[in-house]
Amino acid sequence: MSGIPHDHYEPKTGAEKWLHSRLPIVGLLYDTIMIPTPKNLNWMWIWGIILTFCLALQIVTGIVLVMHYTPHVSLAFASVEHIMRDVNGGHMLRYLHANGASLFFVAVYLHIFRGLYYGSYKAPREITWIIGMLIYLCMMGTAFMGYVLPWGQMSFWGATVITGLFGAIPFVGEPIQTWLLGGPAVDNATLNRFFSLHYLLPFVIAALVAVHIWAFHTTGNNNPTGVDVRRGSKAEAEKDTVPFWPYFVIKDVFALAVVLLVFFAIVGFMPNYLGHPDNYIEANPLATPAHIVPEWYFLPFYAILRAFTADVWVVMFASWITGGIIDAKFFGVLAMFGAIAVMALVPWLDTSRVRSGRYRPMFKWWFWLLAVDFMVLMWAGAMPAEPPYSTISLIGATYWFAYFLVILPLLGVIEKPTAAPATIEEDFNNHYGKPAE
Ligand code: HEM
Repeated sequence: MSGIPHDHYEPKTGAEKWLHSRLPIVGLLYDTIMIPTPKNLNWMWIWGIILTFCLALQIVTGIVLVMHYTPHVSLAFASVEHIMRDVNGGHMLRYLHANGASLFFVAVYLHIFRGLYYGSYKAPREITWIIGMLIYLCMMGTAFMGYVLPWGQMSFWGATVITGLFGAIPFVGEPIQTWLLGGPAVDNATLNRFFSLHYLLPFVIAALVAVHIWAFHTTGNNNPTGVDVRRGSKAEAEKDTVPFWPYFVIKDVFALAVVLLVFFAIVGFMPNYLGHPDNYIEANPLATPAHIVPEWYFLPFYAILRAFTADVWVVMFASWITGGIIDAKFFGVLAMFGAIAVMALVPWLDTSRVRSGRYRPMFKWWFWLLAVDFMVLMWAGAMPAEPPYSTISLIGATYWFAYFLVILPLLGVIEKPTAAPATIEEDFNNHYGKPAE
């Protein structure tokens, strides 16, 4: 590792040396927990730990839920009701898991927007960013398939709408859709494979998280100034950093306690607030609900999916140039996945040599507009697909693409950054005063 750790693990006793020469696992854990961490990290750096907690919570509660759940179309809904009514603590288990998914997404969106503001995606952290994007995609797949399992009305119709999107792919769409569903429509085969994958994917996420952490431990953490830790000498590096244990462990545990206070208040007092009442009605393939709405965390991308209707000029143009192969539905699917793809490519789209948004006077405005845009899209995604909501979604979707594809590349050229502190130590001292020598 190129960093300069505060300390390295040195096996002392005979037993430690014996193990270390065969499997240096204690050394690995020690170096991980003692990693030198920029001492000026602010409260936006807590979300990684909150995310790790969420993943553990979802796996533990999920494994116990599976002990009582039955993945069959004629029993799934009843088995969830059985968990809610008969299993000891079952309602709490289910509410923790359902609301845990929401906390997971709140944390991941704050984590991503933190990265976007402080330029954490910029060199040399591109791999950390890309692995993060893979984690995010897996999270979306897991959450989508998990929502199908209770086999309520929204489970069934949500699955029907979203898997129907694959049918929009020209030529190969329909066979792909049938293959995904395990038949011509959402049915028992679909429920079974979604159950299997919903159980599998969190472990894939766990493996990706290990690689994510490995990647940013290799480059070292970014920090609010975006200025690198000095690596000229051990003494200099130690002025910019403190070891993760105990300093950031204490800070993160405190943050987790505060977040859990709010989380448990929701789980205890308003556990169905974020859910849809229709999912307490058993799935009925013969009765379509009035509005099919996905969970809140999918809404911004759902709004982008629905924004590109057949009367939008880019859609008409794409349809004309491809001889009708790209229709409005397929365009919407491309836009939805494209919206995530442009975010994944941000390390190469942002041309500024300054990392942190703190020292980018023009960038700040566009960034906050992006954050507002995300919230507006989330709201528009929950509204019916008609004017004025469809127009608002279209404007929101256009800004999303413009931010990544036009504004960020241009800003790097035209913006004049303000002065950043020379070192992390200087930033720290500006905030907290110079420590006594
Ligand atoms: C299960 C999901 C995830 C977990 C458990 C996780 C965990 C972590 C942890 C523990 C850190 C270091 C502390 C911190 O910065 O908060 C971190 C840093 C980072 N994460 Fe994630 N992460 C997840 C998802 C993502 C996603 C979806 C992205 C976006 C693409 C992302 C991008 C980053 C970046 C760029 C850093 C480096 C930030 C820095 O050092 O300043 N992560 N992650």
